[in-house]
Amino acid sequence: MAPSLHAIATALMVPGDRPDRFDKARQRCGHAMIIDLEDAVPPDGKATARAQVAGYLAAGPARDGPLVGVRINALTDPNALDDLMTLRSTIDVLDFIAVPMVESGRDVQIARAAFAPSDLPLMPIIETIAGLDHARSIAAALDGRGAIGFGAADYSAEAGMAMTRDALLPARIRLVEAGARGGVPCFDVPYLQIGDDEGLAAEAAYVRDLGFAGKLAIHPSQVQPIIEAFQPSAEAVAQAERIIDAFEQAGRVAIQVDGRMIDKPVYDQALAVRARAGQTQ
Ligand code: GLV
Ligand code: MG
Repeated sequence: MAPSLHAIATALMVPGDRPDRFDKARQRCGHAMIIDLEDAVPPDGKATARAQVAGYLAAGPARDGPLVGVRINALTDPNALDDLMTLRSTIDVLDFIAVPMVESGRDVQIARAAFAPSDLPLMPIIETIAGLDHARSIAAALDGRGAIGFGAADYSAEAGMAMTRDALLPARIRLVEAGARGGVPCFDVPYLQIGDDEGLAAEAAYVRDLGFAGKLAIHPSQVQPIIEAFQPSAEAVAQAERIIDAFEQAGRVAIQVDGRMIDKPVYDQALAVRARAGQTQ
């Protein structure tokens, strides 16, 4: 099966200037890892990190495990051009590129053009007010391939907000709506409090209910709690199966299941639960 960002619940970020951690991150990332050339690498370390990442990729990490992505520098940063040109030669071992600070569908097209004719999936990170304003055209430009990431740290800094649930709610909803319209999944910002597994699980469940498909991770210890939060419970899957069976047997007309009225949108949601259960394991 072609690698897909539609089938993952998390991606573990690893600093691009720490090649000693790449393999370990890959073993512990669960679904995907993102080697970061942007904020995790100081300006004077960019060239070295880029070469190290290219060397790692050229050595060819096994293709049958988790997805491997790289977060390049923002397209407005001169480093981005070097990142794109360097990564072009490693395209065979890359599953996706995360592009920070994306503000328009055109940014998506520019990043995609750098890899043409290959159609490498992209994960534009929306993390500015302008990016949010254009979230729908960014999602649409992905043509159903790729995913959207939410960079809540940069966004809240620009907007002068605290990084609280209340403050971020409108932005999160706009992103999820854009992703749904464009047919691409949305991934929430990493939980910054490393070691607070309870807080992480609560936040992952909260954004799952908002419609996010997953949440990025910044520490291997965060991977399992996130995967579990996005994995529908056995009870939810069993209920979805009952709804699907009953609705189909009734000839797709409104019926009652477990005392609850079931019609087409409820059936569609049950299908989505079943699909997610089959994907995010
Ligand atoms: C991630 O890049 C963020 O800004 O939160
Ligand atoms: Mg950011």
